[in-house]
Amino acid sequence: MKQYLFIMSTLLLCLAVCTGTSMADAQKGPAEIILKSTLDPAKKVKRAFFPHEKHQKRFDCATCHHAQSDDGQQVAYKEGQKIAKCESCHNTKSGIDKKLETFKKAAHARCRACHKKRKKEGKEAGPIKCKGCHRKNIQ
Ligand code: HEC
Ligand code: HEC
Ligand code: HEC
Ligand code: HEC
Repeated sequence: MKQYLFIMSTLLLCLAVCTGTSMADAQKGPAEIILKSTLDPAKKVKRAFFPHEKHQKRFDCATCHHAQSDDGQQVAYKEGQKIAKCESCHNTKSGIDKKLETFKKAAHARCRACHKKRKKEGKEAGPIKCKGCHRKNIQ
């Protein structure tokens, strides 16, 4: 009986630890993402490569993620908040500022602008040229 209890509690502990890590991973989202617009796609669809994990290692979640208040204002990221797709707010029907009303505009304003700024400051940066993100061989 004692041995049985020992095995059972070890199993339960394993289960708790394993599901614990997989939940933390799920909250961090995928390590790499192929971004594409589904609501306001360009005539010629362009997917973009995004190494999410590489960016997470360098930057806070709040650098890219935020939420929205009931009256449509941007709300700063809070640890553990629900993370919605950019396009769920940045689309032409949401009434958001015209400069940010598509995935393309929001993404270029966030992604490309950071790469440009860092390059200008002489820091290590990501691609600025179109094909650096819009890679040919991605699905
Ligand atoms: C730092 C990465 C990055 C760079 C550099 C970049 N883009 Fe983008 N672009 C994105 C992301 C992310 C999106 C939003 C997801 C998507 O639709 O592919 C996007 C969206 C687009 C879209 C809309 C695609 C669609 O299917 O709706 C077009 C068109 C586009 N970019 C053109 C360009 C051009 C032209 C350049 C070069 C002058 C460029 N991009 C440079 C990341 C980048
Ligand atoms: C450099 C920008 C950037 C940083 C930093 C970043 N993310 Fe993301 N994350 C994104 C983008 C872009 C997406 C894709 C959103 C989309 O598909 O519209 C995403 C997607 C996600 C998703 C999946 C959302 C979904 O429904 O598909 C989760 C979860 C997530 N991020 C969590 C995090 C957490 C937690 C951190 C901090 C540890 C973080 N991210 C840091 C840009 C970033
Ligand atoms: C829940 C809704 C919502 C989601 C999801 C969302 N945004 Fe926003 N975003 C907003 C609102 C609201 C503003 C403020 C618009 C204004 O200033 O008129 C904003 C502003 C911005 C700005 C300009 C201000 C700044 O912070 O530099 C950028 C760039 C941006 N968002 C990119 C993104 C990206 C990239 C994602 C996905 C990783 C994303 N947003 C997800 C609602 C959202
Ligand atoms: C706050 C600054 C910042 C933002 C925002 C940002 N990046 Fe980057 N990105 C970097 C830096 C710094 C690097 C180079 C470091 C590295 O490669 O680890 C990089 C590297 C990259 C690379 C090349 C990495 C490789 O392995 O080939 C791609 C592609 C890229 N970013 C795409 C994006 C996309 C798409 C977004 C928006 C969804 C984005 N980045 C947002 C700073 C940023």
